[in-house]
Amino acid sequence: MLIKTGNSGFTHSIPSDITPQGVYQQRRELMKLLAGGAAGAALASWAGREALAQGAGKPGKLAALPGAKSAVAGAVTMEKVTDYKDASTYNNFYEFGTDKGDPAKNAHTLVTKPWTVAVEGLVKQPRTYAIEDLIKLSAQEERIYRLRCVEGWSMVIPWVGYSLADLIKKVEPLGNAKYVEFITQADPKTMPFVGSRVLDWPYVEALRMDEAMNPLTLLTFGMYGEVLPNQSGAPVRLVVPWKYGFKSGKSIVKIRFTDKEPRTAWNKAAANEYGFYSNVNPAVDHPRWSQATERRIGEDGLFAKKRKTLMFNGYEAQVGQLYAGMDLKKFF
Ligand code: MTE
Repeated sequence: MLIKTGNSGFTHSIPSDITPQGVYQQRRELMKLLAGGAAGAALASWAGREALAQGAGKPGKLAALPGAKSAVAGAVTMEKVTDYKDASTYNNFYEFGTDKGDPAKNAHTLVTKPWTVAVEGLVKQPRTYAIEDLIKLSAQEERIYRLRCVEGWSMVIPWVGYSLADLIKKVEPLGNAKYVEFITQADPKTMPFVGSRVLDWPYVEALRMDEAMNPLTLLTFGMYGEVLPNQSGAPVRLVVPWKYGFKSGKSIVKIRFTDKEPRTAWNKAAANEYGFYSNVNPAVDHPRWSQATERRIGEDGLFAKKRKTLMFNGYEAQVGQLYAGMDLKKFF
């Protein structure tokens, strides 16, 4: 993000690419030890870089989380899948820094176990889920979605998760629940940029109830057949494929049902630039730049042509009716 102030065609690694399990385990133990002591801080960051150099960021490092082929309409694009390396080293996760490479370098300090997600607010069945139970709540599917950032870049990623609607149905929203708010982790001890003035923490995002219930809205636990790497929002994030990437909150700890439109993190930071809806819309420019085209990460050659951005990021057939009759220039 920029603010004023400042048939799945993807390749899985061949066995020789995969970090041997023993080495990986040793590294994990080392990281655990280092994470404890103050003297370890510098070494921990060295170990993080070392892990990266040795192939963290390649399939094979993390626990497998395969998903069955999805039957949801629009859930699988035939476009070329972005390389895992690009998807896991070019990130926005401001809790770990504002440069695209910062999350991959810094997010090893995120503690994802134990992890709970509280579901609260206007529901009949409020409950705090241990992440292990949340993962098991419904069958994992693989969805190959485009993710387009408001900054003008995009990727194609095989996400693993299930429709958020499956969880929503379980907790039984009350009749007056109109919005769903996603509150993410904000722990200054493990997230070095929480406390920086760039955003009002925690990072909060929200959807209207019908958007949250749309089967394309994915509660996401993995990508490329594995659990999410920390920098991608482990252990659970949202992916809303027809909205700009920032609507897809990472490392969610609370899901709250409300009757009023929640204030979201980017809207609070710059309301004239980041509206509540934030649907991908090539016809509505960001106040400071066009949204008509995009650069696909991995197609960076000198002569690479920009792609035309599609209405609702190409998911118009599935979600267009949610906005029938709305002035999308006003509700951007
Ligand atoms: N979630 C949290 N908690 N913090 C963030 O800074 N950045 C958002 C979104 N979710 C962000 C976040 C933005 S701006 C984008 S574009 C996407 O995550 C990027 O997701 P990716 O790194 O998987 O591509």
